[in-house]
Amino acid sequence: MQTPSLNLNRQEFGDPINKDNVLTLEGAHILLNEWVLNERLKVHMKQVGHLMKEYALQEGMAAFEAHKWHLAGLLHDADWDQWPDQHCRKIIEELETRSIDPEIIRAIACHGPRYFGVEPRTTMDKMLYAFDELSGLVHAYSLMRPEGYVGMEVKGVKKRLKDKTFAAQVNREDIEDAAQRAEINLEDLIAFVVAKQGFAELS
Ligand SMILES: [Fe+2]
Ligand SMILES: [Fe+2]
Repeated sequence: MQTPSLNLNRQEFGDPINKDNVLTLEGAHILLNEWVLNERLKVHMKQVGHLMKEYALQEGMAAFEAHKWHLAGLLHDADWDQWPDQHCRKIIEELETRSIDPEIIRAIACHGPRYFGVEPRTTMDKMLYAFDELSGLVHAYSLMRPEGYVGMEVKGVKKRLKDKTFAAQVNREDIEDAAQRAEINLEDLIAFVVAKQGFAELS
């Protein structure tokens, strides 16, 4: 989620000295539960976190690296619920105060290049941007299907993508732009989201 007024006016985040400094999963959940009251937003953040973790593991990354990906997804909208006009500056500053790994902070800062004015550079940056809006659209689609995620097909998701009245808040341009930047075929990206998000044990 983004509002247009939130250019962060910088490209560097955190301090390299804090590399590999992370929150535990428990610590991230405490922050998430304190800051986010909206249950639907919590689900969205957990889903994006799950996709990030699964993608990192699929790419052969070690568990600790996948945990960083998980954290970036899990916390990317942490300030949206209570401080939408400070999104995503507030969570960035919080993670900087806590001396968290700059890679995680920068990925969060990149999840809406048109809004935050931060260009995705790393694969982590690009995949968080790529999963964010698409995850929301796929989830909205699952909620309107009597069978939820069961039997969901890529072509059904693509149909909903074309229908701009469906989940109208989901920005289609961002989805296209993000897939291009990540150099991932949109069909493959959709298939991954449907497969991993559908039957996820969210943590
Ligand atoms: Fe957001
Ligand atoms: Fe989001």
